[in-house]
This record gives sequence, C-alpha cells and structure tokens, in this order.
Amino acid sequence: MVGTNTLLHTEGLSKHFGGLRAVDRVDLAVRPGEILGLIGPNGAGKTTLFNLISGILRPTAGRIWFRGREIQGRRPHQIAALGVGRTFQIVRPFRSLTALENVLAAVGHPYYPSLRAFAASYRAPAYQRRAWALLERVGLQEYGAVRASTLPIGLQRRLEIARALALDPVLLLLDESAAGLVHEEAAELADLIRSLRDDGITIILVEHNMPFAMGLCDRIVVLAHGQVIAEGPPEEVQNDPLVIEAYLGHRKAGSP
Ligand SMILES: Nc1ncnc2c1ncn2[C@@H]1O[C@H](COP(=O)(O)OP(=O)(O)OP(=O)(O)O)[C@@H](O)[C@H]1O
Ligand SMILES: [Mg+2]
Repeated sequence: MVGTNTLLHTEGLSKHFGGLRAVDRVDLAVRPGEILGLIGPNGAGKTTLFNLISGILRPTAGRIWFRGREIQGRRPHQIAALGVGRTFQIVRPFRSLTALENVLAAVGHPYYPSLRAFAASYRAPAYQRRAWALLERVGLQEYGAVRASTLPIGLQRRLEIARALALDPVLLLLDESAAGLVHEEAAELADLIRSLRDDGITIILVEHNMPFAMGLCDRIVVLAHGQVIAEGPPEEVQNDPLVIEAYLGHRKAGSP
C-alpha cells in the first residue's frame, strides 16, 4: 500500500519490446528527500524504467503517479515541466557548443515552440545569469567557455546534471553518473548529489559502481529481468542471496 508520503509511485509498470519484458510489473514508491539507488545487471531494465518515468517511452501496461498526478502517456517535455529531470547514460551535449551554451539551451523552457523563441531566450541576460549559476552549482564555473566535446567525461556528466537542473526538478533521475570516474571524482560527485538532496531534490540513481551506490543511497531497489527482486537499506540488499545470484548470472528468467 502506498502511503501519502510518496513523491513518485508506479503500479504494475511494464514495457515489452516484442516478446522481451524489459520492465515487468514494477511497483516502486519513492519518498520525498531520499536518494534511491536502482541497481541490477546489464539489461535488467533500469534505463527503460527511467525512459518510462520521463515519458520517452510509453508503458505497455501499468501506471505512474508523480505528486499525486498520473503521468504515464504524457510527453517528455510535459513531464519535465511537472518537475522530473534526468540525465542520460550516454552523455549527449551539443558537441560544438560551449558548456555555458549547453546549459543555456536548457534554461527557461522544457520545450521551445519555435527557433525564434529559442534564440530570444538564449540572448536574455536573466537566462545567461541563470546558466552561469547552474554551472557554478555543479562546479563547472571555470569551464563555461570550453567546448562541451572537449571536457573530460566526468565534467560532461556534471554538465548533464546542470542541464537537468535548469528546469528546477523536484525529482532527478541520474543514469550512471559515476561511470568511468576515478575514486576521487566519484567521491566529489557523491558530495554534489548529497548537496542536491539537501536542496530538496529527490534522487533516483542507476549505478553499477557498487561502493558509490552503497555509500550514497538511503535505499536500494534491485532489478533483474525487468522485475524488482529486492529492496531495502544498502547493507541488507548487499547480502541478499537473490541479489548475489542475479549478479553472478545464475538466476534463470522467470524463476521466483
Ligand atoms: N528500444 C528498445 N528496443 C528493443 N529492446 C530494447 C530497447 N531498449 C532496451 N531494450 C532491451 O530491454 C532490456 C533492458 O534494457 P535497459 O537498457 O533498460 O537495461 P539496463 O538495466 O539499463 O542495462 P545497462 O546496465 O546495461 O545499462 C535489454 O534486453 C535491452 O536490450
Ligand atoms: Mg542502462
């Protein structure tokens, strides 16, 4: 039963690609202010679940509520405007634009009705100030004039977070933000994520870097073959035999 203290919840959420059940009857309840880790082996359905929540994919079945409203079937820009921000597993900045311009492109609107509207926003001093503030928020104030494509991957991931913050999300979905980072960079990213939570943003993060996820998350949900196989505090989930089995690859599809 989902209590009232829930920011996002899903019921029976499913996405099939032909015969493949990428997300299979997932019931998820996210509490305001938590950092929730979503883990699971490759192909478990983690990114697909993010794509469903952010409206990039339509569910095959099931429902999604965000702040009490049903959002499944809404367009991505509508869901973004309601307060769901996200980053992508494969970072995709506008490669020829600077870091500042990349953030500017995200400031103001989740969707521009015309190129002219976009260009006008782009030049507005208030938007410029806001974009600089967002770069500073993620520690990229030194890199505003640098072409996005030349930034190291860790900084491109921070740029993605700045772009996601441009629409003042209430819920932020981070897809493998720590991938490819060395220990010290990952620790700095964890500090940034904690500070975002302290600002009132609820976070769901998909992660393969276990020490990072276990040290940062309040709660972990484990997916395997599209289904939730475990959830709980990090120390509990880590020792769950089903989880260990899923990661070792011994679990057969469809087994309990
Ligand atoms: N658009 C698509 N069309 C067909 N199959 C897809 C599509 N997107 C994902 N899949 C399949 O759905 C399953 C879940 O993929 P998903 O990307 O959600 O996994 P993941 O948990 O994010 O994996 P990883 O940890 O490798 O990123 C995989 O078998 C994948 O091949
Ligand atoms: Mg993925």
